[in-house]
Amino acid sequence: MNTVIEIEQIRQCYLFIFYDFPLFYNIFMLGESIKVRAPATVANVSCGFDCLGYAISDPADIVTISKTNDPEIEISISGMKADTIPTIAENNTAGKALLSLLEDLNTKQGFKIHIEKGIHPGSGLGSSAASAVAAVFGANILLDSPLQLEDLLIHCMNGESVSSGCAHADNVAPALLGGFILVRSYEPLDVLRLPIPENLLSINVLPDYIVNTMEARAILPKEISLTSAIKQSGNLSGFIAGLYEKDFALMGRSMVDLFAEPFRSALIPGYNAMRQSAMDSGAIGCGISGSGPSVFALSDSLNKANIIGEAMVSSFKEAGLESKLYISPVNTLPPKILD
Ligand code: HSE
Repeated sequence: MNTVIEIEQIRQCYLFIFYDFPLFYNIFMLGESIKVRAPATVANVSCGFDCLGYAISDPADIVTISKTNDPEIEISISGMKADTIPTIAENNTAGKALLSLLEDLNTKQGFKIHIEKGIHPGSGLGSSAASAVAAVFGANILLDSPLQLEDLLIHCMNGESVSSGCAHADNVAPALLGGFILVRSYEPLDVLRLPIPENLLSINVLPDYIVNTMEARAILPKEISLTSAIKQSGNLSGFIAGLYEKDFALMGRSMVDLFAEPFRSALIPGYNAMRQSAMDSGAIGCGISGSGPSVFALSDSLNKANIIGEAMVSSFKEAGLESKLYISPVNTLPPKILD
């Protein structure tokens, strides 16, 4: 037999045995186990505290969910700072989200969850949100998809509340639905997908430093003045108009944070100089990603994004912090089934 054909047949056979067959068997025959990737997210986007967020491509959490015969949720964790994350379901964002889903569906089905943390906890990149989203998304599929994607959101929010003390949706909604998301209302929940101007890129810099989300929320004032509310309404509206109009300058001048940045910037060493370096390098705007310490900037070209990212990284270095750079378009995809 021709050797090339023989090798190709062996390759096809290998792919079938090690890739296609397990995928087919798991999902369609047993429906017992599924592996889901959910991405990092940027919340607040400066002008939309708790109501604006978008998904990026990397980093991500990968969660493997398996059905079990006893009605418990068993959690194991590996990867970034795995030993700092609780494994009791009630205290874990993925576990809590799953409990919320199971209660809604009135089922006693048990699950084993393994979370591979690709997103650093306490990074401001939606680490807890990604785990919650992946777990709920995967479990819903294993239960024969009783809920639509949008209906899973409330359960992801319930999971999110474990780590931040508040069921905010500006990380979980983009991680679950993909894209750029506005949470117009929490009661009732009303989540809108926003347009993404062509060429928009997100520059994310994660300094080697941890900020606890719950503490970063606790330092914020509980009341804001009417003057601040008026200014911030103008900024959020301007930013959204900028997305629709593909007007980067309008987006940039609207990226003002009167609610969180004035208080949280003090938690991030070298923040003001880093922000200035991003703006001097041509960023559309720059701010704290979620509760920090990650920071983000927006750009309209890859070339500029690289320059801005390098400037942000070297500015943090001057403040004594090593940091990691991610450049990504807005990720419009829902969580990905890996196998
Ligand atoms: N909107 C939330 C906050 C996001 O700023 O606390 C946390 O990642």
